[in-house]
Amino acid sequence: MAEKIALITGITGQDGSYLTELLLESGYTVHGVVRRTSNLLRSRIEHLRRDKKVYDKSLFLHYGDLADATTLRRIFREVRPTELYHLAGQSHVGLSFEIPESTCDEAGMATLRLLEIARDEAQPVRFYHAASSEIFGNATETPQTETTPMWPASPYGCAKAFATQLARIYRQSYGLFVCNGILYNHESPRRGENFVTRKIARAAARISCGLDSDLVLGNLESRRDWGRAQDYVRAMWLMLQHEVPDDYVVATGETHSVREFVEAAFAVVNLPWENYVKHDPSFDRPTEPAHLVGCADKIRKTLGWKPTGTFAQLVHKMVEAEVELLRG
Ligand code: GDD
Repeated sequence: MAEKIALITGITGQDGSYLTELLLESGYTVHGVVRRTSNLLRSRIEHLRRDKKVYDKSLFLHYGDLADATTLRRIFREVRPTELYHLAGQSHVGLSFEIPESTCDEAGMATLRLLEIARDEAQPVRFYHAASSEIFGNATETPQTETTPMWPASPYGCAKAFATQLARIYRQSYGLFVCNGILYNHESPRRGENFVTRKIARAAARISCGLDSDLVLGNLESRRDWGRAQDYVRAMWLMLQHEVPDDYVVATGETHSVREFVEAAFAVVNLPWENYVKHDPSFDRPTEPAHLVGCADKIRKTLGWKPTGTFAQLVHKMVEAEVELLRG
């Protein structure tokens, strides 16, 4: 069997770390691009980096930067990946209103740089682009599918829409094997601490241990389609194993409000959430997407993917993980 070589941008993120584990288990050689400034210690792949059987054997890290096309091209030449998973970039929607230029450069232009590199390479590469439900923003239909018109409601969503369209154009114009994974929110104990689910899970655990006294949030009525990150990285991999490249919505088809997440999280630690949760308008966003919920029929039928577990199990798992972390 031909050697499977994956190159991952964003390898130290939630998705990058789960994807790396999945690919290593499946016999891949995995190369990750990391920034010079990335704090490798304590990162989500630290356990793999410390594993002498893995690090520098089947897992390799390369210094690079999404803004630096020359270095990316050099890494590409050296690694000669058969699959590229492009996951990196500033991914906080709220923050994208404060730093729109760098967000758009990372989420939009960097994808173009990588598409150009892939286009120039003699050896064909299968390219996964991490698109997002944020491309739909104020969607005109519910649930959204692969053909729902893009109507982003944030700089981040706009940059992702740009990159998603470019990926389609490169697929159509140059025959590149490029897939857009239009992923809805996906969570896990490895989620960044400034995303709402992790923030809530962490606070519930800390309050229950007497380490914090409150949790300050923005809009409690926002609703999201929340799935499990491990299921979603499997979807990424499945897309690149199919005979033809395509775009897929990856979602549970179910929505819950931030308030419901809070209620479920505080129930895990047996605390009345109303006593601890406060609202601070500085966490509200200038605009919120209207009603994001995905229809994953296409990936179910074509690739046999389906989400596992329930919303309640996801919340439970995240809070338990925080409690365990605190107990050391
Ligand atoms: N982060 C955050 N912090 N969000 C809050 C807070 C808070 O204190 N209070 C309320 N929210 C609300 C936000 O306004 C939003 O409506 C919802 O909680 C979810 O926010 P996030 O967890 O930050 O995720 P997101 O939906 O904006 O974006 C995530 O999912 C997208 C779709 O997969 C990110 O992972 C994106 O990168 C991703 O593309």
